[in-house]
Amino acid sequence: MSNAARILNPALRSKIMSADEAAALITPGANVGMSGFTGAGYPKAVPLALANRIDAAHARGEPFRIGVWTGASTAPELDGALAKVNGFAMRLPYQSDPNCRKQINSGEMEYTDIHLSHVAQYAWFGFLGHLDVAVVEVAAVLEDGRLLPANSIGNNKTWLDQADKVILEVNSWVNAGLDGMHDIYYGTRRPPDRRPVPINNPGDRIGDRYYTIDPSKIVAVVETDSRDRNSPFTPPDANSKLIAGHILDFLAHEVRRGRLPRNMLPLQSGVGNVANAVLGGLIEGPFEDLTAYTEVLQDGMLDLIKAGKMRFASATAVSLSPDAALAFNNDAQEMKKSVILRPQEISNHPEVIRRLGIIAMNGLIEADIYGNVNSTHIGGTAIMNGIGGSGDFARNAFLSIFMTPSTAKNGAISCIVPMVTHVDHTEHDVHVVVTEQGLADLRGLSPKQRAKVIIENCAHPDYKPALREYFTRALEESPGRHTPHLLDEAFRFLPEWKAQQASRAAE
Ligand code: COA
Repeated sequence: MSNAARILNPALRSKIMSADEAAALITPGANVGMSGFTGAGYPKAVPLALANRIDAAHARGEPFRIGVWTGASTAPELDGALAKVNGFAMRLPYQSDPNCRKQINSGEMEYTDIHLSHVAQYAWFGFLGHLDVAVVEVAAVLEDGRLLPANSIGNNKTWLDQADKVILEVNSWVNAGLDGMHDIYYGTRRPPDRRPVPINNPGDRIGDRYYTIDPSKIVAVVETDSRDRNSPFTPPDANSKLIAGHILDFLAHEVRRGRLPRNMLPLQSGVGNVANAVLGGLIEGPFEDLTAYTEVLQDGMLDLIKAGKMRFASATAVSLSPDAALAFNNDAQEMKKSVILRPQEISNHPEVIRRLGIIAMNGLIEADIYGNVNSTHIGGTAIMNGIGGSGDFARNAFLSIFMTPSTAKNGAISCIVPMVTHVDHTEHDVHVVVTEQGLADLRGLSPKQRAKVIIENCAHPDYKPALREYFTRALEESPGRHTPHLLDEAFRFLPEWKAQQASRAAE
């Protein structure tokens, strides 16, 4: 379908303009809500034009920075381009861009890392301040002015509702055959007027196919024809395969014990290569008739659908390698029979996650011997990506599984440590920790029982003796304590801790 055939509303056709003209409508200091979730459905032209405008303003010595709210991570054309020109005053709720990360960790910009299910309601509650502009990618504008969503929903409904001015990017690359894949729920309310979200199965449809918007707010329509950009997944390495194997054995054991049905419960799978490898492992596994109620749909999940192993998947976005994204776009008509895309406040809704009984599988940076998990910070101080939806799922899941290789940086760092340097998921939200070494089932265990299982089952053999020694001495030095620690040594496994000690000794 050509771009002309995608903008059917005559009033909106009259607002077609270039990306430069549209970017000129965004003023310094504005808060801008942009579409985009894990490399899908982000605006492709206006952020680049805006970055050029900001760069030119900075060259003239004029201040120009904006606040940017999205669904989650985007792509080099948005996060990368704006970070490179120092265009962010603040960013929320999640990013994974190297330039953006550099800006945050050098103190050049503010970053607010928020549970993804909270973002839309924080905007309506007024917790985030005023939203001046929305820049949202859609696949088409219907004759009556409603909008056909593209490959991610994220917070778009909320940005379109809340912003004073709206800039649309209409992307003709997106296959309009995906019409019918989306489910935009307009039933959310502020307390005390909330009602239950009526989803009882991952495939339940509770909303509309299109976004509804007051057309008078739309100030610009920009035509694009550009594919979503994502990096390929690396093929599963030996460790990822071992982690996947441990998880599959554990799930099969849970079925045998009657704690899970034969087709399991709906799956949620986090971001990253390890998570994708676990999905790959399920193809070989014994499970049939699977479903997913998850945040993003990765290659592994598409493969499960195509292999006939997965009946249905609900998500808020696709997060696919370039080849898989192309195939998904070409097969949109077929894919919408087994895929629903929803707003992220619904895909990650704690109430629905608890009701459906999700099996949540997420990555981690470090876990401590008591089961606390750090998913976001390196060395306790530098942000990696953000919490994303991991907290939404972990706290409310039927089974909350966290996985990681036992070491990072070619064995130089143990991912199992005495005490995490930053806590995203507390010991109360973590049921299972898995590394390539093995799996620790923490359900029902006290802290001291958990420590033994995590050290013995998950730590790398190079670090096991030191972890055992730490735990033994902590027990001896604080006998009877519920969670024994040596507070002056708890971070000694970290390169950052060692460097600090060395520099203090040299002073
Ligand atoms: N110390 C220092 N660096 C560490 C580390 C540690 N303990 N553990 C991991 N890393 C580094 C790795 O070396 C790698 O660095 P590189 O990019 O320079 O190679 C990077 O962190 C990613 O680790 P990797 O082992 O490749 O895992 P991953 O791709 O599975 O990502 C998380 C792991 C935790 C970063 C990722 O899952 C994440 O961002 N999670 C939070 C958000 C989330 O869970 N979202 C899903 C909810 S739906």
